[in-house]
Amino acid sequence: NPSASSYTEAPLSRLWSLMQRTQLDRGFTGTLAFAIAASALGSSFQHGYNTGVLNNPKDIISEWIGNNMGNRTGTETSQETVTLVFSIMVAIFCVGGMIGGAVTGLIADKFGRKGGLLLNNILVILAAICLGTAKSAGSYELIILGRFIIGINSGLNAGLAPMYLAEISPVNLRGAIGTVYQLVITISILISQVLGLQSILGTQTQWPTLLAITVVPAIFQIVTLPFCPESPKYLMTNKGKELEAQKALSWFRGTLAVHEEMDMIKAESEALKLVPKVTVRELVTNSTLRIPLIISLTVMCAQQLSGINAVMFFSTAIFNMAGLSGEKASYATLAMGGINVLMTVVSLFLVEKAGRKTLLLIGFGGMAIDTLLLTIAMGFASAERPTVGIFCVIFVLVYVIMFATGPGSIPWFLVSELFNQAARPTATSLAVCINWTANFLVGLAFLPLKELLGSYVFLIFLVLQVLFLLFIYKKVPETKNKTLEEISAMFRQQSYQ
Ligand code: GLC
Repeated sequence: NPSASSYTEAPLSRLWSLMQRTQLDRGFTGTLAFAIAASALGSSFQHGYNTGVLNNPKDIISEWIGNNMGNRTGTETSQETVTLVFSIMVAIFCVGGMIGGAVTGLIADKFGRKGGLLLNNILVILAAICLGTAKSAGSYELIILGRFIIGINSGLNAGLAPMYLAEISPVNLRGAIGTVYQLVITISILISQVLGLQSILGTQTQWPTLLAITVVPAIFQIVTLPFCPESPKYLMTNKGKELEAQKALSWFRGTLAVHEEMDMIKAESEALKLVPKVTVRELVTNSTLRIPLIISLTVMCAQQLSGINAVMFFSTAIFNMAGLSGEKASYATLAMGGINVLMTVVSLFLVEKAGRKTLLLIGFGGMAIDTLLLTIAMGFASAERPTVGIFCVIFVLVYVIMFATGPGSIPWFLVSELFNQAARPTATSLAVCINWTANFLVGLAFLPLKELLGSYVFLIFLVLQVLFLLFIYKKVPETKNKTLEEISAMFRQQSYQ
């Protein structure tokens, strides 16, 4: 059917011509695209999907928790107990994330970037079994266990996948390819929001399937990733396998003429032979490494303490606060998820043109102005003032747009850009662990603070956004189009000044 194929061809050829115009086609090969899909789809899906999946079916699962506990004790379970158990289910995901983040360096060095990603799927299978069987086994503890395991998996993914992507990318595409990690997170949050609707899987019988579906991308990764080579930089520097590294690089670049890039990798590997393995202590005490470490940790904190997950987790409650009724609030949440995806696609094209620092400044600056407007609008919102409610929705959408411009994607790959091959795994461990810790704190503190401060709760985020904006303006260097080696050299110079 010719008309069917032209439907699919048209957007693809338009995407290709856009990539040519923005010069993103340079170095972009079919094999590289395959490796990006195999590594990112399987890994960041876990991170995004499990961030959003409990949002919609909250009431149904809470009711089941109440019944489940009541059946055991023979007495009615109080609402407070049910809320507590549900909150633990939500929050334990981030605790797992902190642990997974913390061991990223160990796993990345011992099993490799690709090897670590592949092994990590064992955790997905274990988690899916716990999540999918909890209801029939009559055990809410299995959900808590499953969320903890998938949290560890997601923390590991958040370190391993951006590291693999940064190490296999040509310099001119490193930012765009790094953004794919965040793009898949946003798509999978949206998928979880849609599948969790009551008309789809957010029902009393189907919610175990909703939770267990997380295994599907793991199967995709188990089938596809073995066809991709390990990171050439890892093969050369950590394993000393020059021939294998060269073969891998040729595979990614689609050509045998990779000598120039291979020479750079070899030069870095030679230089690092003289340097002992970088430990956490070394990161903190060595001034060449301390500056990029402080930048990485601060940018990770900035991403979470901007308050993004207060909006991602509790958007429906925020829209209710702005006077929107139940169903309208759910639709506004879907619009928010959709706009997050669209704007992340835009940022993928912008990041190699505008640069990382510019996009971080625009993103956090825009969020700060918008947060102020949102706080003012919320102060006037009520069910009798529907126009103010519409403004609140618009401000929340603009907030997400600004976040997706840079603060959403850049921190994930910036850490890989700021460190050389020897320091990258340990630095990534610390940065990812801090990100999940800050994520955990926002999730824990937002609702109690909202009770306490009402709509002024957003002012806390405003103050933090402004502080982070100043830090980025003063301290973060531009890394666009610089090789990872040039970036390390820049910090070496700075520490001597
Ligand atoms: C980033 C954050 C994540 C958040 C997401 C929203 O990936 O790390 O916590 O949920 O953006 O798009």
